Amino acid sequence: MTATTRRAKTGPDAPDHAPARERTARRLLASSAKLSFDPLTDVDWAAAPEPGRFYGPPHRLSLYGTPQWERMTEEQRIELSKHEVASIASVGIWFEEILMQMLLRHAFDRDPTTAHVQYALTEIGDECRHSVMFARMISWMGVPAYGPGRVAHELGRIFKAVSTHSQTFGGTMYVEEILDAFQREAMADETLQPLTRQVSRIHVIEESRHISYAREELQRERLGPVRRRWEQLLIGVIVYFSTTSLINPRLYAAVGVDPAEGRRAARRNPFWHTTKREMAAKTLEVLDRAGLVGRANRWLLRAAGVV
Ligand SMILES: [Fe+2]
Ligand SMILES: [Fe+2]
Repeated sequence: MTATTRRAKTGPDAPDHAPARERTARRLLASSAKLSFDPLTDVDWAAAPEPGRFYGPPHRLSLYGTPQWERMTEEQRIELSKHEVASIASVGIWFEEILMQMLLRHAFDRDPTTAHVQYALTEIGDECRHSVMFARMISWMGVPAYGPGRVAHELGRIFKAVSTHSQTFGGTMYVEEILDAFQREAMADETLQPLTRQVSRIHVIEESRHISYAREELQRERLGPVRRRWEQLLIGVIVYFSTTSLINPRLYAAVGVDPAEGRRAARRNPFWHTTKREMAAKTLEVLDRAGLVGRANRWLLRAAGVV
């Protein structure tokens, strides 16, 4: 028996997983058919930003409560919120592009007549529209697409080509859940810019399907003790780079704060720590249940500021 056939009998593709896998995929496909968006027409791109409104909740900004924040005028604080939301969206695009390739690799090896593969393809379609939507929002704001920085960008290039099942769905769930936590607050906050709220709402609705797909796939993988350590380590690397890349320090210059000083201030900011911990709490619990939090990655989760 080859390694591949052995894996097919015990891994996530084991025949006894098939009925539940298909049930989930059929439910997600039906839900996609009922409620999906076209960001080109479902967002009012012609509307100008409303003066005096923040782009994201102020208490979720990386400098909130720091001495630098206290020195800022209200206009500068709003400006900071615009750049931080844009930075997070640009990191969202980076990750969605990674995810699209990982999902394509997942589909490539499997039977396209299954609902499971058809949902993977549907999700790629969603992510494709999301990335266009985030890109448009960044242009609408008139700010740069900061991206995750050079190192994370290059690691992403390797990761999307070689990720394992646990890394694909564990990493996906982590990034989708933290974005989701930020956006759930933004969509509910009536004081914010209507456009960023609408973008958040569209993303939250479509992502909840992606999150259930990833969460279930993650639980279908059984890991031995050695493999588990390895997967934990790699998940730790993903958590570290995706979380610490959310706010590109270059953006601090837009509000008159030196990037190195801004980065230091954010790193020491207890409010920002709380935000990161709260945003990551739910997803770390699921990773933990799947055996993907442990000695091999706890130091990375600490360094990322999420535990
Ligand atoms: Fe997305
Ligand atoms: Fe997604």
